[in-house]
Amino acid sequence: MSPQKSADDSGVLVQLGPRTYEVKVVTGQTAQFGAFVKEALERTWAGSSCRRALVVTDSHLADLGVPSAYEAALAAAGISPETVIMPPGERSKSLECAGQLYDFLVSRSADRHVLVVALGGGVIGDLAGFVAATYARGVPLVMAPTTLLAQVDSAIGGKVGINHPLAKNIIGAFHQPAGVWIDTNTLASLPERELRCGLAEVVKYGVILDQDFFAELEQGVDLILARQPQVIRQIVRRSCQLKAAVVASDEREETGRRAILNFGHTVAHAIEAVAGYGGAFEHGEAVAVGMVAESRLAVRLGWIGQELVERLARLLARFGLPTHAPGLDPRRLLEAMNCDKKTDRGKLRFVLPRSIGKVELTDLAREQDVMAVLESL
Ligand SMILES: NC(=O)c1ccc[n+]([C@@H]2O[C@H](COP(=O)([O-])OP(=O)(O)OC[C@H]3O[C@@H](n4cnc5c(N)ncnc54)[C@H](O)[C@@H]3O)[C@@H](O)[C@H]2O)c1
Ligand SMILES: [Zn+2]
Repeated sequence: MSPQKSADDSGVLVQLGPRTYEVKVVTGQTAQFGAFVKEALERTWAGSSCRRALVVTDSHLADLGVPSAYEAALAAAGISPETVIMPPGERSKSLECAGQLYDFLVSRSADRHVLVVALGGGVIGDLAGFVAATYARGVPLVMAPTTLLAQVDSAIGGKVGINHPLAKNIIGAFHQPAGVWIDTNTLASLPERELRCGLAEVVKYGVILDQDFFAELEQGVDLILARQPQVIRQIVRRSCQLKAAVVASDEREETGRRAILNFGHTVAHAIEAVAGYGGAFEHGEAVAVGMVAESRLAVRLGWIGQELVERLARLLARFGLPTHAPGLDPRRLLEAMNCDKKTDRGKLRFVLPRSIGKVELTDLAREQDVMAVLESL
């Protein structure tokens, strides 16, 4: 699997045949956003037919004044924007909020030539993307992610969706964007905890695919935490290349290749379910603990040595991420895992490391080993 590069150094291509699109990683060039969108649309069925855009954002970004530069850039490119501001947070990934966006589009008599721009974190990307996937049976979508997690993960790959009150992400679609515009300058205002959560996914890419990247992260901790623009751009870009390559090899999660992105997530989802969503653990924090726990499981299978677990835990801790989650009942965690969608015919499946940079999907982990790992969480 080779990194997906485009001719332009700032861009990464997600190669999906007729649905191929560019992920552009820039630092503070919002004036060029309009031209990027026009070019991206030209590569889709919509061509130059989009004259209107619905910009979906949340109130944190609106309070920071982020949307105005994006609106101006769209207008300058001949695409007239209207912005709808959603409440921030996971609760906006609801049928009710999707309904508000449908109402807005219908009230404007929007047809399938309306562009949806998702300007925000993963919540806005998933919600606006879901509306784009379903309104008029699918309208063009451009992602402009503003959290580290959205930039390195959720904006790429075409998974969009909302939550059911009883099940997260259960209502959704695959709807690839026409393009992804990442301005790393937006990260300047990101709360520290959100930055760290994104870093958990960045570390994950190193473990699953790229040992050199992992070593670069180890060397760059201080500059990354100081949000040094060039270093941030580099790690975002590298993460996008790695995610793009995985998505290109398994667009709809059919060959099993895309499953490697779930490293750390089997345990993480159980932690989130038992600790309560929006509780003590943010997703990235649960992933950090989950990666350490699942690596311990790999030690028990004889796949790796203990020193690898320690190396991973050390890096996560330096990024200010937790590596333990004491106080959670191991039996409840195991139950939550068995309920999770990643069990296959009653067997627990894990993506476990063979080394830094290489993982394998397995159902060989015995329940007693899983239990032992959960007990030492
Ligand atoms: N579709 C996928 O493939 C995929 C992958 C991973 C995660 N997700 C989803 O992503 C969501 C989490 O995304 P998230 O972590 O970005 O959360 P989020 O969208 O809730 O953003 C986190 C917080 O940061 C604020 N924020 C956003 N950008 C900001 C900025 N530049 N400056 C200051 N504050 C800013 C938001 O208002 C929010 O309060 C979850 O719903 C998860 O299910 C989807
Ligand atoms: Zn994740």
